[in-house]
Amino acid sequence: MKKVLVVGSGGREHAIVEALLLSPQVGKVYCAPGNAGTALVAENVPIGDTDVEELLRFALDSAIDLTVVGPEAALAAGLVDAFRAAGLKIFGHTKAATAIESSKEFAKKLMGKYGIPTAAYRSFDNFDEALDYVSGRPFPAVLKYDGLAAGKGVVIAEDLSEAEAALRSMLLDESFGKGRVVVEDYLTGPEFSFMCFVDGTNVYPMPLAQDHKRAFDGDKGPNTGGMGAYTGLPFISESDREFAFKNILCRTAEAMVAEGLPLSGVLYGGLMKTPGGIKVIEFNARFGDPETEVVLPLLKSDIYDIFASVADSRPCSLPEWKDAVSLGVVLASKGYPGSYEKGFEIEGLDYVDARVIHMGTKASGEHIVTAGGRVLMVVAEGADISSAREKVYGEIVKIRCSNLFCRSDIAHIALEG
Ligand code: AMP
Ligand code: GLY
Repeated sequence: MKKVLVVGSGGREHAIVEALLLSPQVGKVYCAPGNAGTALVAENVPIGDTDVEELLRFALDSAIDLTVVGPEAALAAGLVDAFRAAGLKIFGHTKAATAIESSKEFAKKLMGKYGIPTAAYRSFDNFDEALDYVSGRPFPAVLKYDGLAAGKGVVIAEDLSEAEAALRSMLLDESFGKGRVVVEDYLTGPEFSFMCFVDGTNVYPMPLAQDHKRAFDGDKGPNTGGMGAYTGLPFISESDREFAFKNILCRTAEAMVAEGLPLSGVLYGGLMKTPGGIKVIEFNARFGDPETEVVLPLLKSDIYDIFASVADSRPCSLPEWKDAVSLGVVLASKGYPGSYEKGFEIEGLDYVDARVIHMGTKASGEHIVTAGGRVLMVVAEGADISSAREKVYGEIVKIRCSNLFCRSDIAHIALEG
């Protein structure tokens, strides 16, 4: 029986752990550092997700058969490179290939060179030149810091003064560190997430999902890490999906091979269905969060086989998916994505008749307490979106905690347009 190490501590990793536990080949799963949810089903290991040296030592000492990397920070820290150099099997991209997510300019240049549809852009390292360019363009203007910025590096500026403030912060104050800024055209249309398992030029698609980035109902309020997600998007036709698969995901995988940076993990296309066709908003080099929590429960195939084949650069058979949809709602700490307090007791979890994924929780004695911005996600499957949604909202009320809130309209674009 195989021993697997999952690196990360969020809902995404909890969902990966649960998927692995369904594999008849998997005997034991460790999660580093994990959370109170992964501790219920796997063994948590107190090592940080970017502590490459300690993770490597643990994997060698414990004879881990396969490691699966969740967060981009671990990929960008070179975890995959270090494990491979030590002869260990690991699912995730090399540090160099992670540039597809960690550098917006790298991704934009790649798309330009290989004809992958995306918004037109220019990039700058000089404040005056950037401001001059933006002044001559229509608003809103989209400004993106060229580096990892924990989801805070994108500003949609409504007017020149907002653009100036953002450029000042990124280029003069270097709020996220030294880096360039990509200025791109503002696109409109529904957004969706297309994740694929990728090994070189072999690309295996997962069901499409839609995230809800804004904090409050009606897509109001600040951007968050994601407040809920669902699959079965009615506004993306089969021909849209085919187009995106061939001309975006497969072409990008081929482009990375041509650049000498083959992918070997998940490629996540953050796409938009614009009036001018489907275009790339961003790429991620990892599973999306919270999309993974709704997508992986639909997998019928053995996920260990998929991870191990990709890690070994061997083709695998096409993953099979259930003929159902899945929907999940996030419970977040009041105040999130701004400042919030932690340590509030959560009750009622045992009564929930749906999947409860832990995103930011901690055990405290006998109790489970809040320990992050996004705390829990309740996920259910159904024959259609309305039945999955009814199930989730029917069960979520059983969770009692004085400091959590959730959106009440997940999948509103699918159900109400
Ligand atoms: P990103 O981190 O690149 O995904 O950007 C965060 C969010 O900003 C996206 O989910 C979009 O809602 C929005 N956004 C990014 N780029 C554009 C664009 N070119 N046009 C319109 N909205 C955008
Ligand atoms: N759900 C968006 C992301 O994972 O980046």
